[in-house]
Amino acid sequence: MSNATLVLLITAAILAQVAAVGLFGWQRQRARFRQLTLSGEAAGEEVRPARALSRQLPEAEPALVAAGAASVSPAAWSGYREFRIDRRVVEDEGGAVCSFYLVPVDGGSLPPYRPGQYLTFRLEVPDPAGGSPKTLVRCYSLSDRPRPDCYRISIKRVPSPPGRSELPPGVISNYLHDQLQEGATLWARAPAGHFYLTEDGAVPIVLIAGGIGMTPMLSILNTLTHRADPREVWLFYGVRNGAEHIMKEHLDALSKAHANVHLQVCYSEPRSDDRLGTDYQHQGFVNLELLRRTLQFGRHEFYVCGPPAMMESLVPALEAQGVASADIHYESFGPASLNQRQAPSPAAVINPVAVRFSGSGKTVAWDGSAGSLLDLAEGQGIPVDSGCRAGSCGTCETRIEAGEVAYRQQPDADLKPGHCLLCISTPKTDLTLAL
Ligand SMILES: Cc1cc2nc3c(=O)[nH]c(=O)nc-3n(C[C@H](O)[C@H](O)[C@H](O)COP(=O)(O)OP(=O)(O)OC[C@H]3O[C@@H](n4cnc5c(N)ncnc54)[C@H](O)[C@@H]3O)c2cc1C
Ligand code: FES
Repeated sequence: MSNATLVLLITAAILAQVAAVGLFGWQRQRARFRQLTLSGEAAGEEVRPARALSRQLPEAEPALVAAGAASVSPAAWSGYREFRIDRRVVEDEGGAVCSFYLVPVDGGSLPPYRPGQYLTFRLEVPDPAGGSPKTLVRCYSLSDRPRPDCYRISIKRVPSPPGRSELPPGVISNYLHDQLQEGATLWARAPAGHFYLTEDGAVPIVLIAGGIGMTPMLSILNTLTHRADPREVWLFYGVRNGAEHIMKEHLDALSKAHANVHLQVCYSEPRSDDRLGTDYQHQGFVNLELLRRTLQFGRHEFYVCGPPAMMESLVPALEAQGVASADIHYESFGPASLNQRQAPSPAAVINPVAVRFSGSGKTVAWDGSAGSLLDLAEGQGIPVDSGCRAGSCGTCETRIEAGEVAYRQQPDADLKPGHCLLCISTPKTDLTLAL
């Protein structure tokens, strides 16, 4: 064989190898695409469960991890800090959402936070019947990018549940809207939470917001656009109609100014003067079909926050399409509907344990169906204070007299030794609680 033939053969072999590797890579990418764009049965890969908030703990970012509170910023204060309302801005035509710009009364600087995190507030609310004021705890997401001088939260006024006008409307949201004017003060814990933007290189980001679930998405979106992040960003935002569409001009301006920001607004019940194609892009709900129609080839990172109906349909649908669990991040604002979806742990079902509430003298068998110890106590009519129901505010902290608990996520709140947070724990052994 001549030298020229040998060189030709070697070159051909190298080219064949390169082509094979290229084809393999293309097929893998295509398989990922099919997971999102074809029906479930076409996506032949293993379906993995979505990553619950409990598993969204920060990885390898020691600079942002404070001892004992994995999701709190490093320079954060401990306990509550007093803030003054510097400015209030109504954000929607219907006047149901108001932003509050908060500055620290001590004049100090504000620690940065991860876009998507929230503040926990403690408020003293006067009793309308003239009794002593009540102290209540609530969480509100930071709705803007981190700034050194002020924090912003945006709060929706919560009415009585539909058809239940005999029940009082939401206490704190209405108190903030009606009573706390510019200049008033309130107390907040440092930013915390496990739902936040991850810094994953070049993967396109899909933000899915329903109603007031838009607030953490605004923080993420404003951060990305402020720093001219080159990643493609898709915002799917579902509201009833133009009256509920918050920060419309701001969102339109962002999508005009940033070619990588794609706004997909869905109105489920548009008014006659809402203009399709101008005010909103789609009629109906944000659903999997819309995502499949709109998103392009390849892997995406999903962030979902919205009402229970949206969370309960979309998050499992993404899972079922085989979207990697690490690529689904979600947060629930209410009593965590998705947390309640979690199946009882097999150990708990096979070996039921006894939970004793010593203060009320009740003992209940735990079979895993109650969700959390907080749900179990409430189900027994045992009064327990709660705020976030997400392990952050510390309101449900309870002393353990005997036994051990297991956490479904790492608590954000600092805990006294020998205490537990009922809202995110389940019994690990027979348990006695000081309740
Ligand atoms: C992490 C996190 C972030 C959040 N971020 C935001 C945010 O950015 N913006 C925002 O607006 N909200 C946010 N929330 C929700 C917020 O914390 C509050 O839950 C919300 O404002 C309602 O609080 P409230 O005190 O007004 O209502 P509540 O007083 O807690 O009442 C809630 C509902 O219960 C009804 N109710 C009253 N009594 C009864 C009864 N006896 N039986 C049945 N129902 C009754 C009320 O009418 C009302 O509809 C967030 C929540 C979490 C956990
Ligand atoms: S209710 Fe907030 S930590 Fe449990």
